[in-house]
Amino acid sequence: MSILVTGGAGYIGSHLCAELLEAGYDVVVADNFVNGNAESLRRVEEIAHRSLSVYRCDLLDSAGLRGIFENHRIEAVIHLAGLKAVGESVEEPLSYYRNNVAGTLSLLETMRRFEVRKLVFSSSATVYGSTASPPISEGFSLGVTNPYGRTKLVVEEILGDLHASDPRWSIALLRYFNPIGAHSSGRIGEDPCGVPSNLMPYITQVAIGQREELRIFGNDYPTLDGTGVRDYIHVVDLATGHLQALRKIVASRGIDAYNLGTGYGVSVLQLVKAFEKASGRQIPFRFVERRPGDVAASYADPSKAARELEWRATRGIDAMCLDAWRWQLGNPMGYAEMREGGQIIHENRIRHSVLAVSGVGEGSL
Ligand code: UD1
Repeated sequence: MSILVTGGAGYIGSHLCAELLEAGYDVVVADNFVNGNAESLRRVEEIAHRSLSVYRCDLLDSAGLRGIFENHRIEAVIHLAGLKAVGESVEEPLSYYRNNVAGTLSLLETMRRFEVRKLVFSSSATVYGSTASPPISEGFSLGVTNPYGRTKLVVEEILGDLHASDPRWSIALLRYFNPIGAHSSGRIGEDPCGVPSNLMPYITQVAIGQREELRIFGNDYPTLDGTGVRDYIHVVDLATGHLQALRKIVASRGIDAYNLGTGYGVSVLQLVKAFEKASGRQIPFRFVERRPGDVAASYADPSKAARELEWRATRGIDAMCLDAWRWQLGNPMGYAEMREGGQIIHENRIRHSVLAVSGVGEGSL
């Protein structure tokens, strides 16, 4: 029996694959490699000392998806694939609805055809909108402020309808707070395309000298020091949350949402200070206007996941900073490699031979 991970080559996906392999699962990855990187999966195999099956496959390619389900006995799917940049989603809403909503429909139809009805879905705390006051629990009312958030909410609703139509489905909706950090090996981590829009990768790029200074969006929020407060969660803790959710959906039916967060709020300034301590580097910063759409404070009530999934985050902010720094220091260009003279090679290169069979490529890395 295998677990299919869509979007397995991305930041969260690669950490999840490492944990799944180490826990003994057989792992099949489907990724279109738009944001993910094949090198990350090669390193996952190195970390776990086991191999996984990798398909270059877009979820909208239903023939390709069918090929994967024909080749493997898939027991459950962990669905992470999707576009995730809030600003871009405002400019390109149709791409977001096509990729995140239509892509999910294609996946669900294929799952139904092969009678696979166990799904863990990568949702986001963004579904709580901008008015929820923390700590946020799963029963809070939902509402979104941008197309990216709407794709997550719409998919949650589609999955609710699907379960209502056929209670044999077993579904966990995981609402992530703010994943940061990297694997403690320093071999896999976050490799943003272009200028990072999230805080931690921006900080690490300032620390390594790729960017001059951090711009802190607002210092007049009603928080302890005026800067925005978030619930940062170590990406490996996030990954283990998926494993616990997987155990739950394999053992029982139903549909449930779970917050994956630590339950603690940390301000931008507190994160900068913790990072400076972990790295020994100064992070020059400047306060600028608030970023439109940002909320003052957001952190989880993670007690439902503790109760029902027997999961809680164990890594603190210092470990998150140390691990993020180790990754950045060891991989200044992310997964890209530098050639002599400073030219970048093999950005997003698939390093292994991919078998092209009716649009499906599988390869052992
Ligand atoms: C953002 C998205 C959210 C998405 C999440 C994914 C927005 C409005 N929200 O959340 O929908 O699910 O990323 O990871 O884009 N900050 C700075 N300077 C920077 C970057 C960030 O001061 O250069 C501040 C922000 O104002 C915020 C905090 O750092 O207070 C965290 O920001 P970020 O990492 O972008 O996460 P969110 O805004 O929580």
